[in-house]
Amino acid sequence: MNLPFELPLETDRLVLRLPRADDVDALMEYSADPEVCRYLPYEPRERDEIEKTMERRLGFTEFTPEGHPLFLHVEIKETGEMIGEFLLFSRDVEARQGEIGYVLNPRFQGKGYALEAATALMDIAFKVGNLHRIEAKCSAPNQPSYKLMEKLGMRREAHFKEQALFKGDWDELLIYAILQREWRELHP
Ligand SMILES: CC(C)(COP(=O)(O)OP(=O)(O)OC[C@H]1O[C@@H](n2cnc3c(N)ncnc32)[C@H](O)[C@@H]1OP(=O)(O)O)[C@@H](O)C(=O)NCCC(=O)NCCS
Repeated sequence: MNLPFELPLETDRLVLRLPRADDVDALMEYSADPEVCRYLPYEPRERDEIEKTMERRLGFTEFTPEGHPLFLHVEIKETGEMIGEFLLFSRDVEARQGEIGYVLNPRFQGKGYALEAATALMDIAFKVGNLHRIEAKCSAPNQPSYKLMEKLGMRREAHFKEQALFKGDWDELLIYAILQREWRELHP
């Protein structure tokens, strides 16, 4: 394993850990939901696709220049329920660029869990992993996603209009980012 920081990460209410083979049922609960997948780059998944996805994730245990995502599955500390996933991509090793992504089971949205998990991941990625800049992207109508980026202190750096076709319609892409020194000011 080649990671820039130790796992699992713990917050007040959550644990962020590497995926496990027995996460398939929890993954199924939200990855098969059309509303969850609305702005994700895939359609709702059947169980066999989710099993294949899990197999791939079990191999993504590094933070490498090749851009493999590091997947972290999020658990509620008190109950052990797996409620979603956070991703950290290495986009450019020399320039220390990263990108985050996130998906939460709708049963656990609206409770501040995404903000809590993303804050922990970004904090360790900047302060221990020494990333210089972290960005995040979403479709412009995905308000819960860009609201999260704004709560994280990220700056809207781009709004690309009709820059691609996405699920049969024009896509509006938002790009947000924050630099390490800006993060340190917010989280000394
Ligand atoms: C994007 C996503 C992860 C955001 O999840 P979320 O639960 O809305 O995000 P947060 O953790 O920031 O929670 C925010 C809400 O929790 C509420 N909340 C409740 N308790 C809270 C607490 N203790 N701390 C902070 N917020 C709290 C906030 O008031 C806020 O409510 P609001 O949206 O009505 O203003 C979620 O919408 C999702 O998984 N979407 C589907 C997949 C997707 O599109 N991913 C992004 C692809 S780019």
